[in-house]
Amino acid sequence: MRTGIWLVGARGSVAVTSVVGALALRAGLVEPTGCVTELPALRSPALPGYADLVFGGHDIAPTPIVKKAEALATAGVLPARLVTALPDELASVEDEIRPVPAAARQADVIAALVADLTSFRDRHRLDRVVVVNVSATEPAPAPHPGHTDLAALEQELATGATVLPPSSAYAYAAFTAGCSFVDFTPSTGARLPALAELAQRERVPYTGHDGKTGETLVKSVLAPMFALRNLKVRTWSGVNLLGGGDGANLAEPAANAAKAASKQRVLGETLGYVPEGNTRIEYVDDIGDFKTAWDLITFSGFLGTAMRMEFTWHGCDSALAAPLVLDLARLTATAHRTGRSGPLGELAFFFKDPLGAGPHSLPEQWATLCAFVRQLDADASGAAVPPPVEQG
Ligand SMILES: NC(=O)c1ccc[n+]([C@@H]2O[C@H](COP(=O)([O-])OP(=O)(O)OC[C@H]3O[C@@H](n4cnc5c(N)ncnc54)[C@H](O)[C@@H]3O)[C@@H](O)[C@H]2O)c1
Repeated sequence: MRTGIWLVGARGSVAVTSVVGALALRAGLVEPTGCVTELPALRSPALPGYADLVFGGHDIAPTPIVKKAEALATAGVLPARLVTALPDELASVEDEIRPVPAAARQADVIAALVADLTSFRDRHRLDRVVVVNVSATEPAPAPHPGHTDLAALEQELATGATVLPPSSAYAYAAFTAGCSFVDFTPSTGARLPALAELAQRERVPYTGHDGKTGETLVKSVLAPMFALRNLKVRTWSGVNLLGGGDGANLAEPAANAAKAASKQRVLGETLGYVPEGNTRIEYVDDIGDFKTAWDLITFSGFLGTAMRMEFTWHGCDSALAAPLVLDLARLTATAHRTGRSGPLGELAFFFKDPLGAGPHSLPEQWATLCAFVRQLDADASGAAVPPPVEQG
């Protein structure tokens, strides 16, 4: 299945790490460490192989991706030997990155995005294209009557108005071009009733939001432990220090608020109540793509005895995110191929703020994902659903 991955924010850290990683996997230069679709329970012949993936994308920045890859290598995010081993492959991806179209009317911007997507699909004779949003986090938009239903949105766009935030304009363009959509960011993306309607009309699936790669990943494992032992979490506070482009963008208060809200949601959903405390994000230029999260949890046990735990997480954000971007693109393309449309809540495992009403605890999300992949396998091959695979 020849599958296009169209990256919105194609010159950013997560996008370039995903591209270098996929090219290196295809060339057999690295192990698929961090790619969960390579675990025995999720490996599936229905998913497109790394050799079937073709990359393109949009970005507002002009930095060539090979320069970005070299900068990531210097920062220790990826091995420099991969950048020198893949010059032609990186040049081919560079040829497929387009500037973000500009026009006075948002409808014209969207039409130009659609044209970029369809010409990419035609040029490479792709079976399908997945649009993946890995661009800078946006502030939440003000409510607009055009967001509530598709007819209202189309009417507003026809007047020449700018109705949608950029992430939602990309989702609109993706659905219109018959592409599925993955939102790896906390931005609005497809989370508007008007766009849910469009996805159903065009019979395309979408998923999101906000990749779960660090502090929230640890929270989604620890919170069920407190819940299952009936320990009362009194406060849970965290500080996240990060640099890089994402860190600089999140220094902006509105984008910071969108991200912090997304990171705290797991606690209420998993514990059944919201403990005191909050999550802070601070920009530290010097640490680049390496994030430090420090969390303090206070809780009570039997007879109200007060206890506490702390953890510190030092993660390389892009190295944690990139394999998940590849997993999500392969899974979403297969969901599209097997006739699924609308929100894919089954992929909640990957997200801080997943679509749908699924569980927020990581083990439950994992079980849901395993069952989903078995179902995709069966649908793709026309066979009965295979039994679960033992992990190991
Ligand atoms: N790295 C992680 O672990 C992780 C986890 C969850 C979510 N995310 C999200 O992924 C996104 C990307 O992170 P990153 O570290 O690669 O950031 P980055 O700043 O390195 O890259 C973002 C890219 O988006 C581009 N961009 C900005 N506005 C755009 C627009 N309107 N259209 C097209 N491109 C645009 C920028 O020029 C830049 O190249 C962020 O929103 C981040 O919050 C990252």
